[in-house]
This record gives sequence, structure tokens and C-alpha cells, in this order.
Amino acid sequence: MNVLVTGGSGYIGSHTVVELMTAGHEAIIVDDLSNSKECVVSRIASICGRKPSFYRINCTDAGKLARVFVENDIDAVIHFAGYKAVGESVTTPLAYYRNNIDSTLTLLEVMEAYGCKKLVFSSSATVYGPENPHPYREDMPAIQSASPYGWTKVMIERILTDYCTSKPDFCAVLLRYFNPIGSHTSGLLGDDPNGIPNNLMPYIARVAAGQLEKLTIFGNDYRTPDGTCQRDYLHVVDLAVGHLKALEYAQDHEGVEAFNLGTGKGISVLELVKAFETANSISLPYVIGPRRAGDLPAFWADASKAKNILGWEAKLSVEDMCRSAWSFASSS
Ligand code: UD1
Repeated sequence: MNVLVTGGSGYIGSHTVVELMTAGHEAIIVDDLSNSKECVVSRIASICGRKPSFYRINCTDAGKLARVFVENDIDAVIHFAGYKAVGESVTTPLAYYRNNIDSTLTLLEVMEAYGCKKLVFSSSATVYGPENPHPYREDMPAIQSASPYGWTKVMIERILTDYCTSKPDFCAVLLRYFNPIGSHTSGLLGDDPNGIPNNLMPYIARVAAGQLEKLTIFGNDYRTPDGTCQRDYLHVVDLAVGHLKALEYAQDHEGVEAFNLGTGKGISVLELVKAFETANSISLPYVIGPRRAGDLPAFWADASKAKNILGWEAKLSVEDMCRSAWSFASSS
């Protein structure tokens, strides 16, 4: 299959491109490099032994996106491109709505013009919002998100649902990720955000590398076993494999379907810090700070739907996640 991967040089996108190419598919990356680097494309090539096609394009540019469809016979699209920093979305909501919604609408219009009917969308557990009890199940209402970033995911899920109603032969698979961490075993790909990381694992990795002085754990007074927040961390390579399963599903289905991609288990910030220290024989300086606004105490996935329908389940351990995250951070 020829698969267009928007945001394909980003963290999850690049790992997914590797899995696609390893499985014998052709990947066509569209990325504007606003939060990734072009060297990722050659790193993918050294892992896979061949280069993916790469277009430096912003997905809101319909004309340039259409050229990609003219030059490649695209069978399916995996749509990652989008802004993703929760805090930043609160201070610049218009940029988030403009970019994330516009890029999806443009993509759908271009797909329609070129008769492409299979889409896998990079959604998030954030769509479940604060009101739902965990573990989150796909049949819970996904309408209660807390940040503009989260609302863009909710809105795009809505857009795709309405689009599928109007086009009964279109298939959109909504993948709701929990907390992906870790890196490719080659050490060549990983989570490498521009500036100071917002997310836990890239922050830990930079502290371990001595680039940041210490980790601040945001609160230890939550009603959880050790007082720190619990999340469902999953290995990014497992997550990437989930996209292949979703593509396979899309080939012989129509309509919209959402799947959680998580391990089904919650672990705390403190447990992750300890696991990182043990897996890498590193001592990690940390302090306990105040809670971060908007953080939920605990959530994790009910991952049974992906297992039953897609035949996907997370296989890699927390130790694998911590080792690979450090292997990437210490070599880049
Ligand atoms: C957030 C988003 C999620 C998004 C993900 C990756 C929400 C509710 N969640 O997840 O949609 O996919 O980012 O972009 O919008 N922590 C610290 N110190 C730090 C950093 C984090 O203690 O320096 C803690 C946080 O308080 C949290 C946990 O680590 O309990 C995980 O945080 P993070 O990696 O930012 O992910 P989420 O906020 O869970």
C-alpha cells in the first residue's frame, strides 16, 4: 500500500513510518518540520534500508497537498500532523484551532478529490475529559475535554464522524492514544521536542543527560497510592504497530470506529522515575512541586476493544520504555 503519513517526521509518525516500511508498504511523508527535523527522514532510511518520500508541506496548503496525490497513488492516509502542547494551546487557542482543524478539513477535501477513502486519525485519551471514570472505554461520551488542544481532537473526531455519515464508503479509524513514551531500539528515533519538554519522559531524559538540573514532580497529594498522578504509559513502537492494525481494519470496513491504544494499566510518576533509574542504573534528581493546572489524578485505558477487534495489544514493558528512551537521549 502507498500510505500518506502527515506529520510523519514527528515522534509517533516516524516510528509508524518505520513499521509501515518494515511491513513492505511505501510511506509518503508530509511534514512542515514545525516540530521535527529533516534528519529523521535519513534516519528512517538507515533503519529501513530505503528512503520514504518526503514533502516539506503544511497540510493546510491544499494546492501542495494535491500535488502529493497527483505524484503518488495514495491508498490510505495516517493523519498525525497537528500542534500538540496542552499548555501552549491554552495561551494560543486560535493557532491550535486554525492549524489542527484546517489541516484536517483540507486533507479530507483533497482525499475526496482524489478518491482516497481510508483514514487513520491520531486522536488522544484527552477526549474522555475529566468526568468519565477510568478505565476509559470507547463508548463513553467523548465530549468533555479540558484544553483547546483536546477540543481540537474532539472536534476532528466529530468532523470525521459526520463525514463518514455523508460518505458511507469512507472509513475513519480514530486511535485514542494514552501516554506514548520510549524510542526505537536503534536509538535513532525518539521524542525530541523543541525547547524545554512539557511531557514527563523527554523531561526525565534531559535531566538524566545533565541538560536540565532536576525533575519537578507535579504534586504528591493526589488520592493515588503514592500521591503522584497515574497514567497509562505505552511504548511508542507498540503504538506504531497499532496504526498498521488500524490500516488493515480500514481496508475492509466502512464508517467511523474509535479504539483506545494503551496497556490497560496505570503507573505513577514516582514509579516511572524509579523504573527509569533501575533500568538505566542512573540516579535522577527530583523535587516535589505543586500540582500542574489541568492534570487529572489518574486514568488508563480499557484496551480490550483494540485487542478483540484489531488483534492489537501492547507487548513492551516499562523497562523497555525506560531503556529505549535513555538510549535515544544519551546518543542524540
Ligand atoms: C498530555 C495530554 C495528552 C497528550 C500528551 C502528550 C491531557 C489531559 N493530556 O498528557 O492528551 O497526548 O500530553 O502530548 O491533555 N509530570 C511531572 N513533571 C513534569 C512533566 C510531567 O510530574 O515535568 C507529570 C504530570 O503531572 C502527569 C504525568 O507526568 O501526571 C504525565 O504528564 P505528560 O507527560 O505531560 O502527559 P499528560 O499530561 O498525561
